[in-house]
Amino acid sequence: MLISGPGSTLTENKCNICHDLAHIRRAQLSRGEWADNVRNMKERGAPLTEEDAALIVEYLATYYNRDKPAPPPSPDTLAAGGDDPVQKLLNAGACNGCHSVDKRVVGPSFREIAAKYTGDGAAAERLAAKIRSGGQGVWGQLPMPPNPGLSDSDLKTLVVWVLGQK
Ligand code: HEC
Ligand code: HEC
Repeated sequence: MLISGPGSTLTENKCNICHDLAHIRRAQLSRGEWADNVRNMKERGAPLTEEDAALIVEYLATYYNRDKPAPPPSPDTLAAGGDDPVQKLLNAGACNGCHSVDKRVVGPSFREIAAKYTGDGAAAERLAAKIRSGGQGVWGQLPMPPNPGLSDSDLKTLVVWVLGQK
């Protein structure tokens, strides 16, 4: 876990895909070096939009800066998705680390998923079970990890939202 602050959840989700977060905790970089580092990670394949990269650099330059001490931890309001309940769930479940609305990351895009199950009346129930238990083989051999902590109502919120992303 990284120090809690604006951008910490996004940074955790995006930066632990290939290696653990000790790489970040160990690094003592300046703001300019973090900007170079994040650009370098993007070149190595980190799935980052320009907006993600900017938020992450801002977060790292604030909380892991060689040149100035970190401020006290503060709530991660940006990455918590503000008041949007779906974004909060996507962030809490780290879904955004592997999925985006319109691009394949580790898993299929939410738009592809919605398109695949158009008109399939049984899809909602199946996808809820899949998100809770994890699984593989529908889109490829990469597994989706289980999310046993999601309540039935949170699962329903997520599935309805995903199936609406056509
Ligand atoms: C696509 C894979 C991938 C992702 C995603 C990724 N990294 Fe890396 N990272 C690497 C590789 C490969 C190395 C170099 C090999 C190693 O040290 O494990 C590395 C090394 C590092 C290092 C050590 C650099 C050094 O010179 O010792 C830091 C710091 C780092 N990453 C930060 C990040 C941050 C911050 C993010 C999120 C923006 C991130 N990484 C996301 C692949 C990735
Ligand atoms: C570590 C990466 C990872 C995370 C985190 C992740 N997923 Fe996935 N997800 C995948 C992969 C890989 C697949 C494709 C699995 C397959 O081929 O059956 C997938 C598939 C899916 C599918 C389609 C399932 C199907 O059978 O067609 C849905 C819906 C989905 N994910 C939603 C979510 C939601 C919601 C979250 C957050 C609670 C989440 N995922 C978190 C990697 C991930």
